[in-house]
Amino acid sequence: MEQNQYFGGDWTAEKLERVKKYLQAYVRIMNKQNFRFLYIDAFAGTGYVELKDKQEDQIASLLLDLAEAEPQRFIQGSAQIALQIEPSFHKYVLIEKSSRRCSELEKLKNNYPHLAKRIVIINREANEVIREICKRINWRGTRAVMFLDPYGMQVRWDTIEAIARTKAIDLWLLFPLGVAVNRMLKNDGNINESWAEKLDTLFGTRDWYGEFYELTDKPSLFGNISIIEKVATIQDIGNYFIKRLKTVFAGVAENPLPLYNSKNNPLFLLCFAAGNPKGAPIAIRIAQDILRKR
Ligand SMILES: C[S@@+](CC[C@H](N)C(=O)[O-])C[C@H]1O[C@@H](n2cnc3c(N)ncnc32)[C@H](O)[C@@H]1O
Repeated sequence: MEQNQYFGGDWTAEKLERVKKYLQAYVRIMNKQNFRFLYIDAFAGTGYVELKDKQEDQIASLLLDLAEAEPQRFIQGSAQIALQIEPSFHKYVLIEKSSRRCSELEKLKNNYPHLAKRIVIINREANEVIREICKRINWRGTRAVMFLDPYGMQVRWDTIEAIARTKAIDLWLLFPLGVAVNRMLKNDGNINESWAEKLDTLFGTRDWYGEFYELTDKPSLFGNISIIEKVATIQDIGNYFIKRLKTVFAGVAENPLPLYNSKNNPLFLLCFAAGNPKGAPIAIRIAQDILRKR
C-alpha cells in the first residue's frame, strides 16, 4: 500500500463524488453565516488517486504483456476536490502519516496558489492530531467538515467522541465493514484478545460481542451442547455502528452507503454524522439525500 495509491475502482470514485456533493452544499450554506469554516481531511493521501484496473482488465493486460504500457487512470483525491469547491473554505487541514504523501500534498500549494496560505499540512498520526485540534480550536465561531477515509481500522472511537464533543463538526467517515470488521468476527466467536481489543477501540465498548454472538443449543452425539454462534449479518454490524454514532452525535444519516468491490463485497460503509444540534436536521437531510441518489 505504501508504494502507490491503489485502492479500489468505482467505489473510490463513488465515495469521493458523494463527499464532493456535500462540500458543495456545505460551503453554499456556510458562506451566508458568520462562521469560519474549515475542511479537515485526516487521511489525506496525496491529492490524487490512482485507480486499480478491474481484475479482468489486469489479466488481459498481463496476457498481452501490456502491464507496463497501459497507463493507470488517475482521479482527483479528496484534498484536491475540497480545494476546488467554491466558495472556498477558510482553511484546509490535511493530515497524513506518510511523509512521502505529504510531499505530494505540498505540491497542491503550487497548483492552487490562491489558496496556498490556507492549506495546512500535518505529517502525523490522524487520531492524535484530531484530538488536539478538537480541543484547541474555539468552536464557538468555527465549523468544519471532516473526512475520515482510512484503509482499515485506524479511526479510534475516542477520536469520534472528541469530534462529536465539539458540536461543530460534520463528519464523513468510512467504516471498515467488510474490509476488516466482518472478517475479524469469526463465526465461532473465538476471537483472540488482540483482535477483540482492536474491535473495542473501534466501537468504544465490548458490547459488540453480545450484539453479534449468541449462545445456542445444538444436538450432538453426546446430547445437546451449547455453542457460541455469530448471529449478526453484515447489515447488523453496520446498524450497530450507526447506533454507536447516535450515542454521541446530534444527528446521524440513517442510510449509510455500502461501497462494494467488483466481487460485490461491501468493503466500507460511508457514514455521515452531524455534530451541531441546531445545524444537524438540515445537514442530515442533505447528507441522506446525497447518500440515497444513485
Ligand atoms: C484511503 S487513503 C486516503 C485517500 C484520500 N482520501 C484521497 O481521496 O485521496 C488513506 C491514507 O491514510 C494514510 N494513513 C493511514 N493511517 C494513517 C494514520 N494513522 N494517520 C494519518 N494518515 C494515515 C495513508 O498513508 C493513506 O494515504
